[in-house]
Amino acid sequence: MSREIRITPSILNADFDHLDKEIGKIAQVSDLIHLDVMDNIFVPNFTFDFESASKIIQNCPIGVDAHLMVADVEEIAPLYAQVGCESVTIHAEATKDIAKTLRAIRSEGARSGLAVKPQTSIADYEQFSDLVDMFLIMTVEPGFGGQKFMNDMMEKVRATRRVIGDRPIWLQVDGGISLETIEIAVEAGADTFVAGSAVFKADDPAAMVVSLRELVRGVAN
Ligand code: DX5
Ligand code: ZN
Repeated sequence: MSREIRITPSILNADFDHLDKEIGKIAQVSDLIHLDVMDNIFVPNFTFDFESASKIIQNCPIGVDAHLMVADVEEIAPLYAQVGCESVTIHAEATKDIAKTLRAIRSEGARSGLAVKPQTSIADYEQFSDLVDMFLIMTVEPGFGGQKFMNDMMEKVRATRRVIGDRPIWLQVDGGISLETIEIAVEAGADTFVAGSAVFKADDPAAMVVSLRELVRGVAN
């Protein structure tokens, strides 16, 4: 049985001055738009505050997968669900009460995501898997697009696939995903792929999303 595959392009490397147009280029061929929210505290970069992120979410023609790279995420995570995100991902490293926050995201009607940075093991977070609709394994240090894919994260992807077993939990990888690296990630067990610079640096971003999907479509378990 082949795993369902999702391409969730990140707009971090898109032209922020023309986001509607940029999103419009890829919306029809993407499963979700990956929105990287950075507060310049949890990561050394800033992208959107809640107000500007909300506008993007409410104007987005397809579902939004919010990746919250923010400190003290407990209060704000449910609000991203409330404002209409399809999925809201918190970082294990930024969350005091992970179970409570994952439950709060779900109770507002969104899928719950739990992310780990490269240096963070997944083993410590298996205990939350009943509350998780998607695990996010960072394949770069969070904060910036255009970084090099970290091959040494594939062992963690395999470990996460073992944690998931046959449950319908998505396994997302984020950072350095391109035509050169996506097959490495799918073979390790990922099924949901964030691609930022590979998509928005391409001459035809929509064609790039289609090419990425073709490379991994129908991959057996
Ligand atoms: C990095 C973000 C990623 C990033 C991916 O902190 O979480 O989503 O935008 O960009 P690329 O695909 O260029 O590595
Ligand atoms: Zn991200």
